[in-house]
Amino acid sequence: MRRRDAAGLNEHTVSQTDSTREHLIETYRKKAKHYDITSRLYPVPGYPQRTQRLRAVQALGLRKGDTVIDMACGTGLNFPLLQQAVGPGGRIVGVDLTDAMLARAQDRIEANSWINVSLVQADAAGFDFPAEVDAILSTYALTQVPECAGVIAHGAAALCGGGRWVVLDLKVPGSTPEWLTQLGTAIVRPFASVDEWIMRRPWEAIRAAMQEELSDLSWAELFFGTAFLAAGSRGPGKTGGDQ
Ligand SMILES: C[S@@+](CC[C@H](N)C(=O)[O-])C[C@H]1O[C@@H](n2cnc3c(N)ncnc32)[C@H](O)[C@@H]1O
Repeated sequence: MRRRDAAGLNEHTVSQTDSTREHLIETYRKKAKHYDITSRLYPVPGYPQRTQRLRAVQALGLRKGDTVIDMACGTGLNFPLLQQAVGPGGRIVGVDLTDAMLARAQDRIEANSWINVSLVQADAAGFDFPAEVDAILSTYALTQVPECAGVIAHGAAALCGGGRWVVLDLKVPGSTPEWLTQLGTAIVRPFASVDEWIMRRPWEAIRAAMQEELSDLSWAELFFGTAFLAAGSRGPGKTGGDQ
């Protein structure tokens, strides 16, 4: 009999997912030490990553005192922007799969003496979102998670009424000249099988899931369609924890 897990994946898919995870963790363990510097060149030198991050954090619509989850936070590059938005009375929870990336995030927390940031080492696919969250952000990460649609759904269920879910990530442009297709593949080469990523088209799954789970979805293609910014709110009248 073929094994099936709770998500309905069969044995073959599960072991494929496990080896993808192991590869990912190994990749980011190697990258962690210099990530803050090398990510400035990501995906290519001159890429407007900082501008895109700013737009993503603005799209969260955070207020002082809010609680925000940074899903697959890496070394915490978004934390200064999130701190500014929620203030010392707010709360930031950074979640990531890779221990070494979280260790750098912890260094950042200590260097800034932030006492309102906590870190959780977890797989986004199995993360138990706390209830009554005001906002969830994920930048340059969610397309790496095969179960990205499920992560969107679980996060949406944990948001308070009016809470915001924002995803900024890379994609392969729609109709593209050859040089842009090559840029798209260069983008993902470090962390996954490029072919698998292109075939899977995870940005489409993310868009469909956000459309399904959230109201007022906005979708913007950035930098010649090599990235997207998706944002939506949990409908009014719902409370965190409703399933
Ligand atoms: C390109 S880095 C982006 C980090 C950060 N969000 C940023 O904007 O700099 C991708 C991060 O996603 C994390 N990641 C990948 N798959 C994950 C998963 N299934 N669950 C949690 N984190 C994951 C990696 O460990 C890595 O830290």
